[in-house]
Amino acid sequence: MSKYPETYAAWQSDPMSFWAKAGQQIDWFTPATSVFNAESGVYGRWFDGATCNTCYNCVDRHVDAGHGERLAVVYDSPVTDTVQRFTYSELQQQVSALAFVLRSLGVTKGDRVVIYMPMVPQAIFAMLACARLGAVHSVVFGGFAPQELATRIDDAAPKAIISASCGIEPGRLIAYKPLLDEAITLSSHKPDACVILQRDTLTCDLTAGRDYDYGHTVAAAITAGEGTECVPVLATDPLYILYTSGTTGQPKGVVRDNGGHMVALKWTMENHYDVKPAEVFWAASDVGWVVGHSYICYGPLLHGAATLVYEGKPVGTPDAGAFWRVIQDHDVVAMFTAPTAFRAIKKEDPSGALIADYDLSKFRTLFLAGERSDPATIEWAQAKLDRPVIDHWWQTETGWAMSGNPVGLGAFPVKLGSPGKPMPGYDIQVLDDAGHAVPPGTLGNIVCKLPLPPSGFPTLWNAPDRFISSYMAEYPGYYATSDSGIIDEDGYVFIMARTDDIINVAGHRLSTGAIEEVIASHPDIAECAVVGKADPLKGQMPLGFFVTNDGAGLDAAELEADLIKLVRSKIGAVAAFKCALEVKRLPKTRSGKVLRGTVQKIADGEAFKMPAAIDDPAILDEMSDALRARNLIG
Ligand code: COA
Ligand code: AMP
Repeated sequence: MSKYPETYAAWQSDPMSFWAKAGQQIDWFTPATSVFNAESGVYGRWFDGATCNTCYNCVDRHVDAGHGERLAVVYDSPVTDTVQRFTYSELQQQVSALAFVLRSLGVTKGDRVVIYMPMVPQAIFAMLACARLGAVHSVVFGGFAPQELATRIDDAAPKAIISASCGIEPGRLIAYKPLLDEAITLSSHKPDACVILQRDTLTCDLTAGRDYDYGHTVAAAITAGEGTECVPVLATDPLYILYTSGTTGQPKGVVRDNGGHMVALKWTMENHYDVKPAEVFWAASDVGWVVGHSYICYGPLLHGAATLVYEGKPVGTPDAGAFWRVIQDHDVVAMFTAPTAFRAIKKEDPSGALIADYDLSKFRTLFLAGERSDPATIEWAQAKLDRPVIDHWWQTETGWAMSGNPVGLGAFPVKLGSPGKPMPGYDIQVLDDAGHAVPPGTLGNIVCKLPLPPSGFPTLWNAPDRFISSYMAEYPGYYATSDSGIIDEDGYVFIMARTDDIINVAGHRLSTGAIEEVIASHPDIAECAVVGKADPLKGQMPLGFFVTNDGAGLDAAELEADLIKLVRSKIGAVAAFKCALEVKRLPKTRSGKVLRGTVQKIADGEAFKMPAAIDDPAILDEMSDALRARNLIG
């Protein structure tokens, strides 16, 4: 029997006691004056008045408790043919020395540090070193182009940047240093220092007076016996800023605090993921995403478990057996990835034959999130792995699952297509556009009654007004998730689609507005629209439509090639922008709003209702013709 119902009911009847008890799992320097202060912040603040240090809880306390020899970080990199293991004592030494280097470069409590790194263990050390100093890190995904990095540098105004000489994608080396240099040239804010990890695969020149060699400086600090103690911060002080796509080109800086974040993540390790200290947990994501923050870095380490840093892909490094090899080699007990990774594996190894080549006896549960899990993928994974496959739903804004199926409490039956039921802390409701609750089973806007639980974002960096207007204003008293869906009679949540202009490509959250801004900057383009077209592998792919200026110099094919190059150079490879169609005009309402929702339905070959306010219905036929001419619809 699952203990979920009684656990959720315990939270509902006394949320303060619930979180106070969860808070006992964290080592505080001084306790909170109130578990929840409703008067502070926009909707209240968790563990108000407490002082703590996240790095201390992730690293030092395990060493102090006599677990220094326990495995903390495993690095498995098929792209460099490397496996490295770090115990908690070794992790402490690396992190403390790097924090010393950063402090020598002037980084102190409250300063921001941007981290732009591939999937190497030093990315984790960098995050923890910032936390140790009370500095606020902002990790930028390596697949973003210099312009995107520059935007984040300008917003976060970092004192230092930690980066590497290169990243390695299958068949392609990415020289990070020129990208970093270009970003710093583009940004108005300039960091005082950059700490660069030189990788053997491709080294880079360092800029005199600004750049420091990560390996040399950390090794010198260790040799000299230098290190740093953990700096006490308020539980409500920021731990990190993570930029995520908004509806415009300006990303939103989601702020995460220290105290509530630790409490929530620690609770999930045991109760949701059913992982015990000293076991190996693997989130096959990237440190640049929230999943990487919560479950490659902080969650497993807060719990005294080992985390796995994987620099590879589900397929192609070298084949579709890569995940099974890693699970076997490192005794992984639970794994977390995006459904797209499983679709990629299924495509290459439909019968799952490669699974039989590996010993998965330690492996207990597969967790999926980041995008909608299509039932076919879940069923395939269930059948081939013969283990529970658990979908759970969350957002960068929350830092942990809003709905799921807590395996540690005893899983309840899975309903295909549903990422489970609301987690303790989340009062999830479905409202119609006027803000009224809808009956069970009815599609509507998914909201969460305030306050958000521990780890919920208290604000947006440098944008408190946008925090209110984007999330809090539409349904007063509720956090608007911008997801639509239903809650059925049994309390299962179903997430159907975003209600804004965000699309989800291979589990990556992208703004169609940001892509449109880049396309519109081309001198030949009069106007454009980008929608997310359903894709069997990546979930969605961006699809562009453009209208040219009179007298445009290039033909449609040349323009398409130009636009693809432009998006890649301005946003990055991660945008996966591969297709742009010329049309004579875009379908709009009489007030001039582009009907993206209808265009998306046409692109997906779905039935649609003619929008009442459409200016000229004939334009929809023109869109269909353009799609048909490229064989994108039947
Ligand atoms: N640095 C630089 N470039 C990167 C990058 C990084 N860290 N990560 C991805 N890219 C590049 C890819 O090489 C690709 O470039 P290409 O257009 O030259 O091929 C592009 O960005 C698009 O990447 P992606 O959409 O991830 O496609 P892919 O073909 O490389 O891989 C999957 C497809 C399904 C295997 C891959 O997306 C995957 O493993 N996804 C897991 C999902 C995930 O991690 N989600 C995070 C939230 S849980
Ligand atoms: P991100 O902030 O990048 O984690 O993206 C969050 C968005 O991804 C959510 O708003 C959803 O649209 C989508 N998402 C995440 N997890 C799931 C899931 N399990 N099922 C459906 N959609 C999901």
